[in-house]
Amino acid sequence: MSKSQNLETKLVHAGRKQRYTQGSVSPVIQRASSLVFNSVKDKKHATINRYKGELFYGRRGTLTHFALQDAMCELEGGAGCYLYPCGAAAVTNAILAFVSQGDHVLMTGAAYEPTQDFCNHILTNFGVSTTFYDPMIGEGLAALIQPNTKILFLESPSSLTMEVPDIPTLVQAARSVNPDIVIMIDNTWAAGVLFPALEFGIDISIQAGTKYLVGHSDVMIGTAVSNARCWDQLRERSYLMGQMVDADSAYTTARGLRTLGIRLKQHEESSIQVAKWLAERPEVKAVYHPALPSCPGHEFFKRDFKGSSGLFSFELYQKLTDEQLANFLDHFEIFSMAYSWGGFESLILANQPAEIARIRPAIERKLTGTLVRVHIGLEAVEDLIHDLEKGFERLK
Ligand SMILES: Cc1ncc(COP(=O)(O)O)c(C=O)c1O
Repeated sequence: MSKSQNLETKLVHAGRKQRYTQGSVSPVIQRASSLVFNSVKDKKHATINRYKGELFYGRRGTLTHFALQDAMCELEGGAGCYLYPCGAAAVTNAILAFVSQGDHVLMTGAAYEPTQDFCNHILTNFGVSTTFYDPMIGEGLAALIQPNTKILFLESPSSLTMEVPDIPTLVQAARSVNPDIVIMIDNTWAAGVLFPALEFGIDISIQAGTKYLVGHSDVMIGTAVSNARCWDQLRERSYLMGQMVDADSAYTTARGLRTLGIRLKQHEESSIQVAKWLAERPEVKAVYHPALPSCPGHEFFKRDFKGSSGLFSFELYQKLTDEQLANFLDHFEIFSMAYSWGGFESLILANQPAEIARIRPAIERKLTGTLVRVHIGLEAVEDLIHDLEKGFERLK
């Protein structure tokens, strides 16, 4: 543990208590279901303190999990961190922890698509209704709060279309109507550390740790860092839902933290270079990278974020035909086509305007050209630009 306030130093040292490392640099990998008590007194102590870092039963975690949970609390300023088997589980279980039949959720209409689907297909089955709001609605959000609204769910920047909402205004609008509303954010793009959500009055900061925390595209995990007000309920409901991760995944995620600072810096630098290059291309109508003025909400990004990561999108002037799209996407040498992002490798995907409109019914902003999303990895920028250049040539 370090007292430094510098992110790079905190990332290297977070959670590395002697109790967890036991003399090595990284925490031990403690794989366990059963945790053995030496006496009735010890068992009683463990039972009373089972959610306060005492070894109790595998589903409550082992030293390996505690090390990662402590690290995440240090990094995001939380009272507790729950670990889930993937980002989607973190999102859905955090929501489930705070709603009952008859409640209402306010969900960004530009959320990660499965998050929206969860509201439409699962919450509805439990009698919980959802209103999808335009993330750029600002103080107009207050008018959408109903007496039964329990959760305001944010995501910044939005998935695919990358709008950066005015979060302080949204938080203030929600709390002015209902001070007790539970506010959550999918904070994956900022890896939790580039946007200090809890300092903005948000209760729970959720991440698909699968992306930047792990950083190597080989482990799935979700994290939810909570403030003290929501921690007990989040923890106990998630526990009742059987949420936990294996010790190896927790270990690998904690290891990812050590290089997160330097990786994020490179993702930022390279993605901005590629974004600026794209902005000059005649085929590109607009680049939606939060660090560029052409991204909706760029001014909020500049005000609220400590930096940028490597995921952004750009809209072409043209709506590509299926044949053009396949010709563009099928032949990249460096960019791979894959869902997910946040690893060391560069990725590319595309969506047609009709598809974006279908998954964004509540959003006013409409696209006309094909939307390409790229994750800029750690390869040389020159090579990435060359690969993209050849892609554009294939459109001619
Ligand atoms: C913004 C965002 N949130 C959540 C998730 C879900 O994470 P996971 O795939 O680990 O379930 C993703 C995955 O792509 C995502 O992009």
